[in-house]
Amino acid sequence: MNHPSAFSGLRAGAKAAAPGAPMRLGSGEHLSLFCRMLLDTHDPYRPAIMDWPALEKEARDRLVSLPIWDIAVQTEGRARLNVATYATGIADPLLKQAVELNAFEEGRHQTVLSHLVRAYGIELAPEPECVTPKDPEWAFMVTGFSECIDSFFAFGLFDAAKRTGFFPESLVDTFEPVIQEEARHILFFVNWVAWHRRTMRRWRRPFFELKVLRVWLFLIWERIGIARNVGNGVQGNNFTVTGANQLGADIDVGDLVRICLCENDRRMSRYDGRLPRPSTVPALARLALCFMRSSRKDKHKRSSCSSYCGGS
Ligand SMILES: [Fe+2]
Ligand SMILES: [Fe+2]
Repeated sequence: MNHPSAFSGLRAGAKAAAPGAPMRLGSGEHLSLFCRMLLDTHDPYRPAIMDWPALEKEARDRLVSLPIWDIAVQTEGRARLNVATYATGIADPLLKQAVELNAFEEGRHQTVLSHLVRAYGIELAPEPECVTPKDPEWAFMVTGFSECIDSFFAFGLFDAAKRTGFFPESLVDTFEPVIQEEARHILFFVNWVAWHRRTMRRWRRPFFELKVLRVWLFLIWERIGIARNVGNGVQGNNFTVTGANQLGADIDVGDLVRICLCENDRRMSRYDGRLPRPSTVPALARLALCFMRSSRKDKHKRSSCSSYCGGS
């Protein structure tokens, strides 16, 4: 794994747009802005010196019993390979550097998780061999859109786990850099999609949009299959289903979705407001909330997420 210092001393060629200056999606300024967002906010933490807090027996048992650890470690490893493979074919040096950093951070997530499972005595199944993807762009998009879904719900589950005391605060704090890193990744990814579709040759665009649609259909199909498997006791990378099931006794699904929306906004608010935010999953979540409200006629929850967001 590359040392984080490999990403310092970055290319000075592309100029970042000055804060407040207008920015056109697909422009050089846009490329510079979303790449610099990722590169300049890199957290150089080292998994080897992360302090895993001692847990009470009950908290440790809860952690060990979560049916996600095998697939979580494998997913991070596959994400690293997918992103790193896409980076090898990128011509623009700044974009290449940013995607390489993304891959480095995915590999570091896998290392963090492997330290966590070791610290708490969680046994993992043998890891299947990852195969280098034949279509690097497809693999990069599957990882990117998949993270857009999983991270949105992870933001809420993470906060809900802290609120309900499902995990002790010390453990939540230790894991916080990983969650914020995923927020940066999905912000970077949706901006790459916006930039990429505007800079490719015109004749390629319909094929790209078709590819976006195919990736979404693939992810929906994958998650439907996983939801069935979880019901049968098989591990899946749908943290939402497994995580919500575990927290289900303590929190209402509608409340959980509201927390996800609040946490998504809070985590994204740290970055330049000119960068488009991930919008598809939050929009679907708001739509789902509308159905939940009308089916329950739960008017007192119509107001907003203010009771879940910081400050109250
Ligand atoms: Fe990751
Ligand atoms: Fe990621």
